[in-house]
Amino acid sequence: MSKKATKTEFGDFQTPKALASEVCRLLASRRLCPASIVEPTCGRGSILSAALQAFPGAAIGLGFDINPAYAAECRQVNDLRCSVRAADFFATNWRSILADLPEPILVIGNPPWVTNAALSSLGSVNLPVKSNFHGYRGFDAKTGKSNFDISEWMLLHLLELLNGRRATLAMLCKTMVARKVLQHAWKHGFDIGRAEIHRIDATAHFNAAVDACLFCCYVEPGKRTVSCQTYEALDDSSKRHTFGYDDGRLVADIEAYSQWRHLLGESPYRWRSGVKHDCSKVMELSEAESGLRNGFGETVNLEPEYLFPMLKSSELANGRTGAPRRWMIVTQQEIGQETKQIEAAAPKTWHYLTAHADYLDKRGSSIYRKRPRFSVFGVGDYTFAPWKIAVSGFYKSLRFARLGPFQERPVVLDDTGYLLPCTSQQEAEFLYELLVSEPARQFYSSLIFWDAKRPITTDLLCALNLDKLAAESGLNKPFNEFCRSNPWTTKSAGPRLFD
Ligand SMILES: C[S@@+](CC[C@H](N)C(=O)[O-])C[C@H]1O[C@@H](n2cnc3c(N)ncnc32)[C@H](O)[C@@H]1O
Repeated sequence: MSKKATKTEFGDFQTPKALASEVCRLLASRRLCPASIVEPTCGRGSILSAALQAFPGAAIGLGFDINPAYAAECRQVNDLRCSVRAADFFATNWRSILADLPEPILVIGNPPWVTNAALSSLGSVNLPVKSNFHGYRGFDAKTGKSNFDISEWMLLHLLELLNGRRATLAMLCKTMVARKVLQHAWKHGFDIGRAEIHRIDATAHFNAAVDACLFCCYVEPGKRTVSCQTYEALDDSSKRHTFGYDDGRLVADIEAYSQWRHLLGESPYRWRSGVKHDCSKVMELSEAESGLRNGFGETVNLEPEYLFPMLKSSELANGRTGAPRRWMIVTQQEIGQETKQIEAAAPKTWHYLTAHADYLDKRGSSIYRKRPRFSVFGVGDYTFAPWKIAVSGFYKSLRFARLGPFQERPVVLDDTGYLLPCTSQQEAEFLYELLVSEPARQFYSSLIFWDAKRPITTDLLCALNLDKLAAESGLNKPFNEFCRSNPWTTKSAGPRLFD
């Protein structure tokens, strides 16, 4: 493995001494008096050494790192209180190590910033044995949702063992990891007396373009708070806002949310994702002078049966939703539908797909295994609804669009876009007005973490109960009428098409 790959595999970004000292100064200003200090992935030891200096009252300092050379270097810290071992975090019995330590305990450090997906693409085994710790099942277990940062696993493991003790967990990590750890801890009722997130400039300190922070979690037996102060920097003057856990979900701004929480709930309309095919070069065709062109620059001439105008997330986010310039081949009308009939129904399309089968057959995701050839996902009757409300799930903007048919074909989205299927233009206009209303905007902004990689998700969109919103605006009568005539709502009067 190359040096760069090894650095990625072990998240080997050593903390600069100046940053380590700044972190410890901040912790000392919180009047921590740890009796023991633990650095579980200590590397060369800059944080462990800064912590031992900042907390002269600590009796014990323990350091661990998988890299024996780093462990040896860290031993040079040369402090009689300190003991360092070469050890793999995932093979270490943290329960027994922590059980023996005098309280208060400070667990401090900077665990590796790498995801299980990145590790598996490197063929690495630097992972916990049980990796589906969130218990995802089915489609979620096979796709992005089950991807996690190994630091998330490490921090949760430590926090679980510290629960009920007098302890502080202070870790440099991705901000998203800190939030996920807190969400888990809050959901499971851990004894968290206080939590803080201080943003750090990861580009300046680690040359890493990620949103990162110092995450401090103060564990106090019997104390259960469910909010976290965020600060722009490693000091107190930069206080920003408070996020927290309410109604079983993470809330970006708990003060604002308290005003709009009555709009939370299951809506009769359900947001869906666009079509997933994982092969844009073959399945997406753009308009060119010579006709339609695929991602290899080949001009393609296909029957219209399986071709649908499409909009990309960037077009939704930028409001360029007028006349689509791309087309998508949608091979199925529902998940798992047989595809063989394409050969008779649209021979040119079948020939095109078989000619490019190499690319389609080697799609990596396990969702395509044991499925009809050329299968797609995220498809159902709703995909072909004539009108839709659409929004990008890829960009950091909540811009809703009304989409009507183009050249008498329903417009489709790829899997980075989300949609509400509508039966008519009037329904789409009506829902659009509800979604851009001030209460809807404020409700969503109280929930959105704009610094997340993907702030807009179906989970977020579905949190707004359009029924309640319509009732509050005195629009329940037309709302109920639209619901009744829409087969994809739970209030549909005719045959229902939702699942
Ligand atoms: C981001 S660096 C930080 C090092 C140190 N904590 C610091 O702040 O300078 C992550 C460290 O984790 C170590 N590491 C990676 N995987 C590990 C594992 N499974 N067990 C123990 N240490 C590991 C790496 O060797 C590396 O030194």
